[in-house]
Amino acid sequence: MKYAILGGSFNPIHMGHLFLADTALSAFGYDRIILVPAYSSPFKLGAQGASPKDRLDMLIASIPADPRLTIDDGEIRREGVSYTIDTIKDIRERYRPEGKPGLILGDDLARDFHKWRSADEIVSLTDIIIARRLSVEDLPFPYPHKRLKNEIVELSSGNVRDRIGSGEAWSYLVPPGARFIIEDRSLYGLAKKPDTAITRERIADIENTVRTMISPSRFLHSRNVALLTQDLCIRYGDPYGACLGMDPAAGYLAGIAHDMCKSLPEAELFRLTQMDGKSVSKLERKKPTLLHARAAAVLLKERFGIHNKDILEAVRLHTMADTEMSPLAKAVFIADKIEVSREHVSAGLRDNGSFDDLDTLFAAVLNETVAYLRSRKLSLSKGTLRLLEVMKGTRTSGQSAAGSGGGF
Ligand SMILES: [Fe+2]
Ligand SMILES: [Fe+2]
Repeated sequence: MKYAILGGSFNPIHMGHLFLADTALSAFGYDRIILVPAYSSPFKLGAQGASPKDRLDMLIASIPADPRLTIDDGEIRREGVSYTIDTIKDIRERYRPEGKPGLILGDDLARDFHKWRSADEIVSLTDIIIARRLSVEDLPFPYPHKRLKNEIVELSSGNVRDRIGSGEAWSYLVPPGARFIIEDRSLYGLAKKPDTAITRERIADIENTVRTMISPSRFLHSRNVALLTQDLCIRYGDPYGACLGMDPAAGYLAGIAHDMCKSLPEAELFRLTQMDGKSVSKLERKKPTLLHARAAAVLLKERFGIHNKDILEAVRLHTMADTEMSPLAKAVFIADKIEVSREHVSAGLRDNGSFDDLDTLFAAVLNETVAYLRSRKLSLSKGTLRLLEVMKGTRTSGQSAAGSGGGF
């Protein structure tokens, strides 16, 4: 396979990067461009605003389903200052490219290329491609190279950062996945969106929309989940002190919204899921309907303007439990499995008022759910398996998961 390398800080990745990669692919017949985010570029030490992880996450979220692009995190994993020659050798070793890999350099870097560590060796190991960033004239470059006759896009990461910091328009200068992460993590000085109060009117608006998105029986299930989650918030919430974040209205909203993407086509589920910046697991790829939970969290945020982290997490995790779950997420998980219209619920869980605390009830519900899935030979998510491991390790013999149908 013929590769070309495009390195940079990608702080953040923007449309100019993708346009450049796209142009190089079609101009020189490469099969794939390897995007290499720098841990800390030797020429941009101290670049502020986003951590290496943020920058890597933005890259990953920006190129879904494009097989012509890939990301290599070798420099970030190595940490410290990486020199281009080290990266080239590493990539040649691991990717085994057909012929010399291309190395795309902007003409802004060409002038000082002779100062780079092992410049001559870089020239001998790669096909250097000089891309236009500063000038449509061919700036002098005294080494063998090819010229990419790309159009200059007046866009830089610094420009995007400045715009975000100063409140100017920037959203469409970066790919949607990167935008989502910038907003979600308030990068580059972006002000957090104020979360307006979750009023009953606002919930009613969302509920009315959800009703049009799913079947009547699915809607009744959602309403039952909303009511039971609200009840659990009242029962296990603030009076116990340990369960902060269990606001009954938030519980109702999470419950009403948790399955709103259940009837969406798979392509739409994948499209929405891309926006949360997380990768799609093997299990999710095998069973895309599982993505309805993540898609609902994205939609709740993007379309309905809900930014409450507890609510979004509760919706996102309702199909697949994980080790880090807030009390609200546990409440929605419980309600989704045992609300009154659910079948296969043991008498012990139907009569759940006897559980003293949320964690014990959660353990019992998880236990019974896992037993049921296993009896039907259905796969468990990695998150669920991790959680089972943690619970196995921390349970004492006195903690019985009352009403459960199976053991950990
Ligand atoms: Fe669901
Ligand atoms: Fe559900």
